[in-house]
Amino acid sequence: MKRFAHVIGTGASVPARVLTNSDLEKMVDTEDEWIVSRTGIKRRHIASDNEASSDMATKAALNALESANVKAEQVDLIILGTVTPDRPLPSTACLVQNNIGAVNAAVMDIVAACSGFVYGLALAKAMIESEQADTILVIGAETLSKIVNWKDRNTCVLFGDGAGAAVVRVSGKPGGILGTYMRSNGSLWNLLTVPAGGSRMPIDFNSMQNGARYIQMAGPDVYKNAVMAMGEAASEVLSRTGVSSKEIALMIPHQANIRIIESTANRIKIPPEKVYVNIHEYGNTSAASIPIALDEAMRGGRIKPGDKVLMVAFGGGFTWGSAIVEF
Ligand SMILES: CC(C)(COP(=O)(O)OP(=O)(O)OC[C@H]1O[C@@H](n2cnc3c(N)ncnc32)[C@H](O)[C@@H]1OP(=O)(O)O)[C@@H](O)C(=O)NCCC(=O)NCCS
Repeated sequence: MKRFAHVIGTGASVPARVLTNSDLEKMVDTEDEWIVSRTGIKRRHIASDNEASSDMATKAALNALESANVKAEQVDLIILGTVTPDRPLPSTACLVQNNIGAVNAAVMDIVAACSGFVYGLALAKAMIESEQADTILVIGAETLSKIVNWKDRNTCVLFGDGAGAAVVRVSGKPGGILGTYMRSNGSLWNLLTVPAGGSRMPIDFNSMQNGARYIQMAGPDVYKNAVMAMGEAASEVLSRTGVSSKEIALMIPHQANIRIIESTANRIKIPPEKVYVNIHEYGNTSAASIPIALDEAMRGGRIKPGDKVLMVAFGGGFTWGSAIVEF
């Protein structure tokens, strides 16, 4: 039997606490009007002190399993994209495995920043087609609020927390994940980085004092690269799959900046009504942004059986990628 990798269920979870632009006006020198016009963000959800990436990932995974009508014991692989793991060891995927009781699964974290979920879909497709797994949970989960410098207006207005998940399962029926594309450019790693917290610069008194444990970003350079790379990733996956942009029922882009989203859609001539946007509510949740949007779109009736959905992402590293999924 030829094996196809179908997305059969989705789930999401975001923290209850909401931080609005007017809340941020009281914390740093910024204005609601600046944030909305430059980014499209109005609110973001922020984890509580005792909430970590695995907590949200667990809820998103359970929601996805429920919507797919799949039991945790049936999952044989968990792929979790995050740059904000609960701790350096073990992987956050291990914590999720334990929390949901996926006792028959192999699990791993992948660090591809905002591209984590589309990278995960690409791996899931390959693992299913090569008969190495039948039922896979692909998760994106982030608690960026814990690595953001809340005194740096250049970055703190942009990010939020949350998790999203999808169940990908083997089927003999053609369709599912039709094609994927993954790229990276490590020569530009220093444009978006958290300098401290690894083996190069362990957390110590200095990094606690000088901000090196927080996200540092050259915003306009990241912006330019994101526009180019997301356009390329969207075009490339269309040509690889032979799907035309007219056939795309919905585009779900990584939600980093409304202007980047609009320029990506323009490049491949997808009209605004076919572009899913929820950046106003969540900000940039990195690896979680596409699966949160996918889950909202599924539950909101924006995706119907037979629809072809284009997902496209760009993130630190740099990494970028795309996927077309037929539902
Ligand atoms: C960060 C970003 C929104 C800035 O928008 P921009 O249009 O490039 O901003 P501009 O260059 O026009 O303006 C920058 C100015 O706004 C100021 N500024 C930055 N953050 C601000 C804020 N929150 N409130 C008010 N002013 C702010 C800067 O200090 C700078 O002022 P200066 O010109 O006096 O030095 C934009 O570059 C961006 O979205 N970059 C990509 C970020 C991203 O997607 N990262 C994750 C990738 S997955």
